[in-house]
Amino acid sequence: MAAIFSKTSDVVLKIAGALLGLGVVGGIGAYAWISHPRNLETGYTPEQPVKYSHKLHAGNMGMDCTYCHYTVTKAAYAAIPTTEVCMNCHTKVKPNSAKLELVRDSYKTGNPIPWVKVHFLPDYVYFNHQAHVTAGVSCVSCHGRVDQMIEVKQVQPLNMAWCLDCHRNPAPNIRPAELVTKLDWKPDRDAAEIGREIIQAKNIQPPVHCSGCHR
Ligand code: HEC
Ligand code: HEC
Ligand code: HEC
Ligand code: HEC
Ligand code: HEC
Repeated sequence: MAAIFSKTSDVVLKIAGALLGLGVVGGIGAYAWISHPRNLETGYTPEQPVKYSHKLHAGNMGMDCTYCHYTVTKAAYAAIPTTEVCMNCHTKVKPNSAKLELVRDSYKTGNPIPWVKVHFLPDYVYFNHQAHVTAGVSCVSCHGRVDQMIEVKQVQPLNMAWCLDCHRNPAPNIRPAELVTKLDWKPDRDAAEIGREIIQAKNIQPPVHCSGCHR
């Protein structure tokens, strides 16, 4: 971990230095290179140990995302729920289902369910859920219609160009913060106009300088 980090910060520092050295024209050239979109991981849908469906729980049943991802509004990391959260219902709902056998085992033994992580950023990138969610960026902007997914799938490239596209023009993706988990929300007027008003009221300024995301 430490080795990767220092190696990469070295790369980042060199690039930052090169941008400064080359001045404005060189800077634009270098930007075109680093912002070239790469979609390598879009579509990534790893198989999960339990056939848990967001479409059923968050879509059909209408459970709020924060019932399970309870840290998303107050921490960098969006917690994956513990088995106890599942068992709030599944001690009574489908208590004998074969599809829930691993969940019951986990509850008995205390060994966590080995969920497979879907979305990744390299260690040298700083990301924070709370900052986005409290500013009014919905889960749907970055994760798509999870409430319609049986299995979670990565729908955005999560690369630097993608982050910067929004940081330069966040207005179309800003909504009242209390609506961030309403993935099917439709604005009743121009979304960018609503966004601009919130941006002004809350003084929202996403970082576009290198050290904003590479700390
Ligand atoms: C009943 C609990 C529950 C609810 C409600 C829930 N989730 Fe999840 N979520 C999980 C579990 C368990 C996982 C890990 C397994 C998986 O990826 O399917 C997960 C995984 C995810 C992931 C992938 C995380 C990764 O590994 O990168 C995203 C994104 C996500 N949820 C978004 C949402 C959104 C958006 C909502 C609301 C629309 C929501 N979840 C509602 C339980 C829940
Ligand atoms: C608020 C209550 C509630 C919570 C919390 C909950 N579930 Fe469910 N779950 C349900 C209901 C209701 C069904 C549908 C039962 C049916 O089909 O009759 C269901 C169905 C399922 C099924 C399909 C079972 C089958 O035999 O078809 C799985 C698997 C499942 N849930 C996993 C989970 C996991 C994993 C968690 C925790 C991350 C979880 N559930 C949290 C209520 C809940
Ligand atoms: C601005 C984009 C963005 C928004 C908005 C966003 N996420 Fe994420 N999410 C990410 C990225 C990027 C990752 C991967 C983070 C990493 O690997 O460091 C991630 C990872 C996750 C994970 C896996 C655990 C973790 O933190 O790595 C879950 C669960 C998740 N998001 C749920 C949600 C939910 C629920 C919402 C809405 C309340 C949401 N996210 C809003 C970009 C976003
Ligand atoms: C859809 C729009 C959107 C996307 C996509 C997005 N961001 Fe942001 N980002 C924002 C907004 C809005 C803020 C809040 C700025 C504020 O409150 O002043 C923000 C803030 C931040 C901050 C400052 C947080 C803090 O605690 O200081 C960082 C760092 C950041 N984003 C990193 C990223 C990274 C890395 C990615 C890509 C993986 C990304 N963002 C993708 C809109 C976005
Ligand atoms: C809004 C967040 C954000 C800002 C601002 C940002 N980056 Fe990045 N950067 C990322 C993300 C996310 C990645 C990892 C994904 C990727 O490779 O595109 C990354 C990757 C990189 C990499 C590794 C690329 C590779 O191909 O391995 C370098 C070098 C880099 N950034 C340099 C910079 C420089 C120089 C700046 C300032 C001009 C900058 N970054 C500003 C988010 C950001």
